[in-house]
Amino acid sequence: MNGCPYGVHRVIEPTGVLPQPAWKISNDMEKIYDNEVLIDVSVLNIDSASFRQIKEEVGNDEEKVAEKILSVVNERGKMHNPVTGSGGMLLGKIARISPEMSEKHGVKAGDKICTLVSLSLTPLKIEKIHKVHLEKEQVEVTAKAIMFESGVCAKLPEDMSETLALSILDVAGAPIQTARMVKPGDTVMILGASGKSGMLCAYVAKKMAGVTGKVIGLIRRESKRAEVEKLGACDSILLVDATDAINVYSAIEKETKGKLCDVVINVVNSPNTEMGCILATKERGMVYFFSMATSFTKAALGAEGVGKDIDMIVGNGYAKDHALYALETVRENPVLLELFKERYI
Ligand SMILES: NC(=O)c1ccc[n+]([C@@H]2O[C@H](COP(=O)([O-])OP(=O)(O)OC[C@H]3O[C@@H](n4cnc5c(N)ncnc54)[C@H](OP(=O)(O)O)[C@@H]3O)[C@@H](O)[C@H]2O)c1
Repeated sequence: MNGCPYGVHRVIEPTGVLPQPAWKISNDMEKIYDNEVLIDVSVLNIDSASFRQIKEEVGNDEEKVAEKILSVVNERGKMHNPVTGSGGMLLGKIARISPEMSEKHGVKAGDKICTLVSLSLTPLKIEKIHKVHLEKEQVEVTAKAIMFESGVCAKLPEDMSETLALSILDVAGAPIQTARMVKPGDTVMILGASGKSGMLCAYVAKKMAGVTGKVIGLIRRESKRAEVEKLGACDSILLVDATDAINVYSAIEKETKGKLCDVVINVVNSPNTEMGCILATKERGMVYFFSMATSFTKAALGAEGVGKDIDMIVGNGYAKDHALYALETVRENPVLLELFKERYI
């Protein structure tokens, strides 16, 4: 028997909503519908905003982070952080799949895959947490998960390690959408330029803006400058806390001689960075809020409050061919590949 392609049949509370906004979904791994794909999970890649919030709540402690993850999953049937609302994605092996779903998703039983839909809607049952990697924001587990018919997954590439591929695919929406937004000659600022989506976006932004354009990377720690410089994608680097809107504005005004930015890309993992982005954008410019710590209310009311006529884009995690684009972006630049390997291998 088939369930709802979007997984509504798994929703426990409140009934009638989709699995992502639901508070609780069923993580029963015994009764599986024919159009559900069962996955043996080996690694969870927790969303950066979520992982950071958990570390802030329980401390930078492997055991306590593991306990928190287990309690969220046991309570909600999915790794859906109640504070940030975000999830992450997973790496595993296909344990069971019908011929119809195999054809639809282009994968078969035994294939190693990453899901490209959020953990915040994915039924998940954790048997054991083996190790929490505090720096990589990844968790080694023995667990089972379900991908719904409408889900998206990618087969793991053979030319890189699993955890490296996982870290790139986690933020696969960001580079391809940067390529769509940035035009030759644009001035672009990346807030969070030293992070994993920050580095991907900075490289793609420079490629698209070209020699007549300018890419400005914003970081908050001097210790991250060398890596951003090594990538060579940013024409200049600003050392500013992205939550300090007035300082962000002053720095970008000085850097652009008052012209401000055509495109501002927010890839930080902490809250309260909306206003810095808005103030840094020129009239009719665009802010791309990829950060999961973004507040729609703060952005919409904040822009209105300062009279800024700008477009603000919500960072859709999915774009057609985003996985392929993200992996190719890292493959084509040896420095970017090296930086990713140093952090995520
Ligand atoms: N839209 C989607 O579908 C989607 C998918 C995946 C991830 N995301 C979101 O995208 C964001 C970036 O993810 P990621 O994996 O690239 O994260 P990441 O690698 O942890 O990078 C985050 C960066 O933000 C910087 N940062 C944090 N607070 C800052 C501040 N106050 N001022 C300046 N920089 C600051 C961090 O700098 P330090 O290292 O110095 O702290 C780090 O370089 C997260 O919010 C994540 O939740 C969205």
